[in-house]
Amino acid sequence: MRVHNFSAGPAALPGEVLEQAAREMLDWRGSGVSVMEMSHRSAEFGSIAQKAEADLRSLLSVPSEYRILFMQGGALAENAIVPLNLLRGRVQADYVNTGSWSTKSIREAARYCDVREVASGADSGFTRIPPIEQWQMRPEAAYLHICANETIDGLEYSWVPEPPRDVPLVADMSSNILSRRIDVARFGLIYAGAQKNIGPAGLTIVIVHDDLLGAAHALCPSAFNYQLVAQNQSMYNTPPTYAIYIAGLVFEWISRQREGALSGVAALEARNLRKAHLLYGALDATPFYRTRVVAADRSRMNVPFFLPDAALDARFLEGARERQLVGLKGHKTVGGMRASIYNAMPLAGVEALTAYLAEFARLHA
Ligand SMILES: Cc1ncc(COP(=O)(O)O)c(C=O)c1O
Repeated sequence: MRVHNFSAGPAALPGEVLEQAAREMLDWRGSGVSVMEMSHRSAEFGSIAQKAEADLRSLLSVPSEYRILFMQGGALAENAIVPLNLLRGRVQADYVNTGSWSTKSIREAARYCDVREVASGADSGFTRIPPIEQWQMRPEAAYLHICANETIDGLEYSWVPEPPRDVPLVADMSSNILSRRIDVARFGLIYAGAQKNIGPAGLTIVIVHDDLLGAAHALCPSAFNYQLVAQNQSMYNTPPTYAIYIAGLVFEWISRQREGALSGVAALEARNLRKAHLLYGALDATPFYRTRVVAADRSRMNVPFFLPDAALDARFLEGARERQLVGLKGHKTVGGMRASIYNAMPLAGVEALTAYLAEFARLHA
């Protein structure tokens, strides 16, 4: 039996995708082998990887002057890989601190370059994104880094910052890629761990402008050199083949999604908006639950909330489990609850959660 899985990541995948993978597990389309057993150099796997890349390019309308890379190491490794590739002889990089994940990005990048935290939401307890007018950006910085969606704190940019001229924008989109339409041309580089909206852990997606390739630091590991990875169609070393295959099935699933006249990412965006409105509406409907993030910066993907007394947490989670609602425990650093409502979470899952929220508040207020 499948439950409604609100895990922040690795997170729920569409049931259809898992069923297709199960059907194809032992014999991928007459090849006689599982995708897991195929050489990454085989024609079969080549077709899987090329289709996955082409579908992702189409879903996000990635312009032709951008490479799409399938890498490993997760988003945390990108915190080092980005400065190692993007400094291009410069020594400074600018970062906006909006929460736990950008704090980690800053700490890691500071091992490689002169990092400036151009703005920080720490003073507000990471409850708002600092307004861009306050950002102390440097025109000589190699890049400006943001975390598009803070998975733990529940903040998300609803706008794209404009860095100074010649400063490319770099975004960690691990927890909101493919959940809304984006204009890739506004970014120099986008990276995302796959295990939320894309597929299994172990795959990292990088979308990078051609102009940023070819100037990696001499000490950058070859397997993490974007240009080498790009020149080798993400096969410089063995890529996470099975994760790429599942990601490809998820891309096909996204392409099939419809909401009225909308399709693909636009359809998911509309559905995600409805889900988020419904959930925040239920939390706002009673003073029993507390949320922290200001309305304008609330994440559509990760919704942290708190009960009036942490002593109720275990009972809340137990009741949720009885209703087949799992993965709601908040991150250990902030406590409380967190509902992650990525692309694969259906509206019905959010409806079941909001019904339970109302019921629990009635019983315990
Ligand atoms: C926004 C964000 N950045 C970075 C990471 C770290 O990713 P990984 O564990 O794949 O290295 C996560 C993981 O949850 C995340 O949500």
